[in-house]
Amino acid sequence: MDGVTIIDHPLVQHKLSLMRKKETSTASFRRLLREISTLLCYEVTRDLKITHETIETPMCEMQAPLLEGKKLVFASILRAGNGLLEGMLDLVPAARVAHVGLYRNEETLEPVEYYFKAPESMADRLTIVVDPMLATANSAILAVERLKQQGASNMRFLCLLAAPDGLERFTKAHPDVPVFTASIDSHLDENGYIVPGLGDAGDRMYGTK
Ligand code: URA
Repeated sequence: MDGVTIIDHPLVQHKLSLMRKKETSTASFRRLLREISTLLCYEVTRDLKITHETIETPMCEMQAPLLEGKKLVFASILRAGNGLLEGMLDLVPAARVAHVGLYRNEETLEPVEYYFKAPESMADRLTIVVDPMLATANSAILAVERLKQQGASNMRFLCLLAAPDGLERFTKAHPDVPVFTASIDSHLDENGYIVPGLGDAGDRMYGTK
């Protein structure tokens, strides 16, 4: 599918399978999510632009490669997005962070916004929006709209699992936002859960079920 990258690194796939298992404990799920998010972050930032600056090592001067441009923004769709966020911040500790608080009305499956806080200057920063599950894509579509209103113009969407319907809806709504995912699963069930999926990512991460 155009604009969609599947992150098929063997370590990502292995950790994802462990996360899917229903017997995986909250502690293990959380640890795996943190580990996998650093690997996903590595892949989603693979083509960042590099500039060269003169530095001095203990031996001599050299032209050293460093990241070009302004600090990245990581935008977490609460609450499950925070699970991906932590591992990404391990890798890019200087990133700015936006939070978009959306909950899903379980009857309509429509997202309802309850919180929004983002850096003021987003226009010239790459923003990576994170949410482990791209299911119906309702939340993702709304979150990206809100970030665009805030000035974000260069965005990527990163998730662990995507449903084919959600992917199609998202790429239609935001064709300018490439999606990175570790897997495209089979389908959504009647409650909007991804199948085979891994259940409710927030509940599994925080032990709320
Ligand atoms: N959100 C989840 O946490 N899991 C799903 O399967 C779908 C949406």
